[in-house]
Amino acid sequence: MLHGRHVLLIIGGGIAAYKALELIRRLRERGAKVTPVLTRAGEQFVTPLSVSTLAGVAVFRDLFDLTAEAEIGHIELSRAADLIVVVPATANLLARMANGLADDLATTLLLATDKRVLVAPAMNVRMWTHPATQRNVAQLAADGILFAGPDDGAMACGEFGPGRMAEPAAILAAIEGALGGGPLAGRHVIVTSGPTHEPVDPVRYIANRSSGAQGAALAAALRDLGARVSFVTGPATVPPPPGVDVTRVETAQQMRAAVMAALPADAAVMAAAVADWRVKAASAQKVKKGASGPPVLELAENPDILAEVAQMSGGRPALVVGFAAETEAVVDHARAKLARKRCDWIVANDVSPETGIMGGAENAVIIVTADGEESWPRLPKPEVARRLALRIAAALGG
Ligand code: CTP
Repeated sequence: MLHGRHVLLIIGGGIAAYKALELIRRLRERGAKVTPVLTRAGEQFVTPLSVSTLAGVAVFRDLFDLTAEAEIGHIELSRAADLIVVVPATANLLARMANGLADDLATTLLLATDKRVLVAPAMNVRMWTHPATQRNVAQLAADGILFAGPDDGAMACGEFGPGRMAEPAAILAAIEGALGGGPLAGRHVIVTSGPTHEPVDPVRYIANRSSGAQGAALAAALRDLGARVSFVTGPATVPPPPGVDVTRVETAQQMRAAVMAALPADAAVMAAAVADWRVKAASAQKVKKGASGPPVLELAENPDILAEVAQMSGGRPALVVGFAAETEAVVDHARAKLARKRCDWIVANDVSPETGIMGGAENAVIIVTADGEESWPRLPKPEVARRLALRIAAALGG
């Protein structure tokens, strides 16, 4: 519940602006007071009348509204709220925020505020992955700006990928988390994600097809519930979400070291597709073709990070969750893994090529625990992440 909490909601100019209307409704249902600010570009997508009707108060549109009415200055407006939320945060708005511009009411409020700011980015996938946007996002995260989303999925422009705005329910959870009301507030969760690369020589490596999408979505969902997230990622194709502590690693051994360094934690969720083997004696120089024919690679077993954390004698996280990517007998293999590794849950999925799950946007998982199995329908990965994060919060008593 958000009774007595005050949110200053800045609506930027993007097609996802319509979701801001639903967010206003949900915030008010939960008892929050919403002061809306509509940017010039935002007005092209939603009308001031719909915004003010849903918010139950007048909408601020122009820097000069404030001085003309002389009722409330921009400094006061920027500080009266408990939290400033930007929905949708366009590439342009993020760029202006990252550079401290104050050329309209929204950016002036964002610069003048002494309150926390949460943004829900929404833009085309190329705009989101562009180095300039990623630079701005990294700067904003370093400045302490909180992020909800973006999700990976179909976009209004017809493209597909990261950049789609988080759903209002997820933004609401992030707002509750930011206001200290999230069920994982004060909790620390370690998430591993992505593949590992095991070098053969300086230019070649053994890898797998994991994109890191499920792990990244999970880290974002846990963050949105208020957790402090240590995100240990191999070389994934999906970028890490903003607002989490990222450690980038390449090999399984580096991933193990990063996980151990991040402990203690309340929960550890191992979504990484860790290579089971590494090349025993990786060559320091590029292996050349030669008269002796193809090289024979001797493999050595990698440390099992999940099993090690689950079997720690002291300082074991209260909840240790593993993933099982299987291509047959999914539940049987998952249950065997649960017993062998001694973790608390296994999130099992079928990654046979025909499912399109590995590297895809959706996932169909079965949660295997000591108490039984729970099959979830095929869902977008961010939704699987949101449900898992809620289940984790419930298990930790949140
Ligand atoms: N895992 C890990 N460290 C490893 C291998 C796996 O932490 N060296 C974790 C994964 O992150 C995942 C779970 O263990 O959460 C399942 O990994 P998987 O490789 O599927 O299990 P294995 O025990 O290797 O079983 P198999 O290869 O027989 O499927």
